[in-house]
Amino acid sequence: MTVSVSIALEVNGERIEAHVAPRLNLADFLREHLKLTGTHVGCEHGVCGACTVRVGGEIVRSCLMLAVQVDGASVETIEGLSDSGEIADLQAAFRDRNALQCGFCTPAMLIAAQDLLRQNGTPDREEIRAHLAGNYCRCTGYQAIIDAVESTARARAGRTG
Ligand code: FES
Ligand code: FES
Repeated sequence: MTVSVSIALEVNGERIEAHVAPRLNLADFLREHLKLTGTHVGCEHGVCGACTVRVGGEIVRSCLMLAVQVDGASVETIEGLSDSGEIADLQAAFRDRNALQCGFCTPAMLIAAQDLLRQNGTPDREEIRAHLAGNYCRCTGYQAIIDAVESTARARAGRTG
């Protein structure tokens, strides 16, 4: 008999209770239990960044966390950031600048980019590149992604400045 563990957490602002296998990772929990399939799974060992989500406001690789570790935590996925409108301008910039092709890396790339922009409203291209270095994209060659993040930072600075 497989032992399951009860967890209670907040996902995109909604309280969730679940019974999970002790070894279930957070990425699979989000995708399979909650059907939040915007969190992608590539390498499954912490290298590609495709599974990036926020836990307690900090970005983490959900393939490297167990679902039981987020008991009591607040988790935000691309669906939550998208629905709230928090990254609407960043998403529009990705579209306008052709910063996505197959889209596999895109949800995590958006979350990582938003993480940078929350910490540093006026990053230069090197800072953008460094912050996104843990998110692999096989399609775009990264330039368009850097352009999209840079233009979003400029637009936000213009709005607040
Ligand atoms: S799937 Fe988690 S880092 Fe690649
Ligand atoms: S758009 Fe295809 S992996 Fe980035």
